Amino acid sequence: MSIMKRFTGKTVVVTGAGRGIGLGIAERFAEEGANLVLADRDPRVEEAAEKIRSFGVGALPVACDITNKAQVEDLYARAAKQFGTVDVSIQNAGIITIARLEELTEQDWNRVLAVNSTGVFLCCQAAAKYMIKQGQGRLINSSSAQGRQGFIYTPHYAASKFAVIGLTQSLAKELAPHGITVNAICPGIIETDMWAYNDEHWGKLLGNYKPGELMKEWIQGVPLKRGGNAKDIAGLVSFLASDDASYITGQSVNVDGGLVMS
Ligand code: NAI
Repeated sequence: MSIMKRFTGKTVVVTGAGRGIGLGIAERFAEEGANLVLADRDPRVEEAAEKIRSFGVGALPVACDITNKAQVEDLYARAAKQFGTVDVSIQNAGIITIARLEELTEQDWNRVLAVNSTGVFLCCQAAAKYMIKQGQGRLINSSSAQGRQGFIYTPHYAASKFAVIGLTQSLAKELAPHGITVNAICPGIIETDMWAYNDEHWGKLLGNYKPGELMKEWIQGVPLKRGGNAKDIAGLVSFLASDDASYITGQSVNVDGGLVMS
């Protein structure tokens, strides 16, 4: 497939860019000519930046915990200082834990909400300050199939991802007069380290599944009969950031092989 260069000279911030879906999204924007700001709390974001520079674009790695308001504000300040603008911000970083209700701790509930919901809010708030001044911008938030339907043993994760959809709709209305679109994506079963964790922990609680078995079984329930990959997600995100999506805002788009159809 030939890739267009839709983002040459644009600045794209990706949180959780150290690995998985976030790294795949960053690679897609780099292929399309964008300068990348890669945020992650994990130091492997430095290696990710090296990889991104090999595409011939600028890459700024930033150690940032998205639950920390000061670190988030510093992230966007550094992005603007290095590259001049903040054109697109992708709120991708997220975490999951899996537990029966009686074993789900308040600490885990709060931690998952803090990263998946509050972290997305803090990034949107900080990014919007620059986008409002520019009179344009794209905010793209990571929800989940679990932002559409609760799954068993993840009430905190589902709650955190439903929250992202409400946040996205509300901000879309507030920021529209400033030329900023706000959309969410809802991935299904995507083959990353997070899914390896899911396979192991859901597998234990749902029966004694061997590694990989639960994923295979769940994929049978996906109409397109395969798990997704980071490229599947990056294709949607780059579309939502492109000029072709300029009339789309407040939407939550499923990218899940047909797993959820509402
Ligand atoms: P992953 O676990 O492979 O990568 C997540 C990245 O986010 C890691 O590099 C991690 O260090 C970073 N991160 C976590 N907490 C952070 C924090 N507080 N501050 C900064 N960085 C932080 O996950 P994956 O699979 O790439 O998922 C990315 C997003 O997609 C998440 O929001 C996840 O909930 C969502 N998603 C994933 C699905 C899947 O099947 N893999 C399905 C639906 C949604």
